[in-house]
Amino acid sequence: MADVELKNVEKVYPGGVKAVCGASLRIADREFVVLVGPSGCGKSTTLRMIAGLEEISGGMISIGGSIVNDVAPKDRDIAMVFQNYALYPHMTCFENMAFGLKLRNFPKDEIRRRVEDAAQILGIHDLLQRKPKALSGGQRQRVAVGRAIVRKPAVFLFDEPLSNLDAKLRVEMRVELHKLHQRLATTMIYVTHDQIEAMTLGDRIVIMDKGEIQQVASPLSLYDEPYNQFVASFIGTPAMNFLDGSLQNSGDGIVFRDAGSIQVPLPKELGDKLSNHLGKPVLLGIRPEHIHDPASGASLKLGAKVQAKVEVVESLGDLKVVYFVEGPHRFVGKVDAHVPVATGQTMDLVFDANKVHVFEKNTGRNLTCRVPQYEAANEASLPQPAVAAAK
Ligand SMILES: Nc1ncnc2c1ncn2[C@@H]1O[C@H](COP(=O)(O)OP(=O)(O)OP(=O)(O)O)[C@@H](O)[C@H]1O
Ligand SMILES: [Mg+2]
Repeated sequence: MADVELKNVEKVYPGGVKAVCGASLRIADREFVVLVGPSGCGKSTTLRMIAGLEEISGGMISIGGSIVNDVAPKDRDIAMVFQNYALYPHMTCFENMAFGLKLRNFPKDEIRRRVEDAAQILGIHDLLQRKPKALSGGQRQRVAVGRAIVRKPAVFLFDEPLSNLDAKLRVEMRVELHKLHQRLATTMIYVTHDQIEAMTLGDRIVIMDKGEIQQVASPLSLYDEPYNQFVASFIGTPAMNFLDGSLQNSGDGIVFRDAGSIQVPLPKELGDKLSNHLGKPVLLGIRPEHIHDPASGASLKLGAKVQAKVEVVESLGDLKVVYFVEGPHRFVGKVDAHVPVATGQTMDLVFDANKVHVFEKNTGRNLTCRVPQYEAANEASLPQPAVAAAK
């Protein structure tokens, strides 16, 4: 059991690539934290620095209250599971899982007990005498996880462990990992570029872009209160819509206006936050599920009527994803599966004005976010204070 702390951690690779820039993060004991972001944003580098597989160029990393900057990977009490399993092909599953313990000179019966326990937890007991080539991708991934479990590490590190699996198996393994975390009650740090995996697995999510942490928060708070346009556009499918325009005073409060016909009255309580930005370029952010047909939009407390032409309709069974065009804007909405919608028709819509966000155009900062900065989000949503235990 251990908490993990990163303070201003930097990584500059030889050749000058700055992969991680001043990352600070506190992960509580037993927490499941997911690092997510686009390819090349520094997720694996961050994880590998925690594991000790990559030296840090600056800052501090501590595990269980002890600074580990100069501690060898094998002495960090961590176990890592990679995307490509990295099982030894000539060994059976049992031998693969036992290998790390053998190297550490564990007694034979202790090794057997631990491997059998792990195999039981992962449902691979019947496969222990097979070699990896006789296993499916999902079974191999279980063996790789088993090899980490038998070590009983204080911290598990996962780097895209499910990305080699097909879609159905990924969902199954995702649920298995969730249960595993509950059962083992151990700190887990998990890297993925898949936002659904991040949202479903993480107690908290760390969103990275270009080597920088953009926001650290619980899945819901990330969804509802994205700190900036990057976070807002990264989380959610289809992604949040952004409309160019400016803020103006209507006499009855502040409204968003685009260059055409779209006008959205903004909630009165946002007045203080937005009054300094009157006349300046902003982006209105609205999620697809907050764009309603007139029937479902009728009960909204604060709505904005918009007319738009339907370009494409995708029927997903439980709902329809509709792509609209209105003047210079293209945006996407989700409507009830039974609302009749045809390509080319003009449709009346209602934007839920209580759910919109306003982003500063040049910085991407969310002017309507209640979380002032990512450090604050990090501290505020930490489930329990990560007190550095003196060793
Ligand atoms: N050994 C290395 N030498 C030089 N540059 C590297 C090295 N490893 C990674 N990088 C660079 O550092 C940056 C971050 O890489 P990293 O592997 O951490 O990204 P990632 O977020 O894990 O991406 P992906 O989702 O594609 O796995 C990238 O620009 C990458 O090209
Ligand atoms: Mg990676």
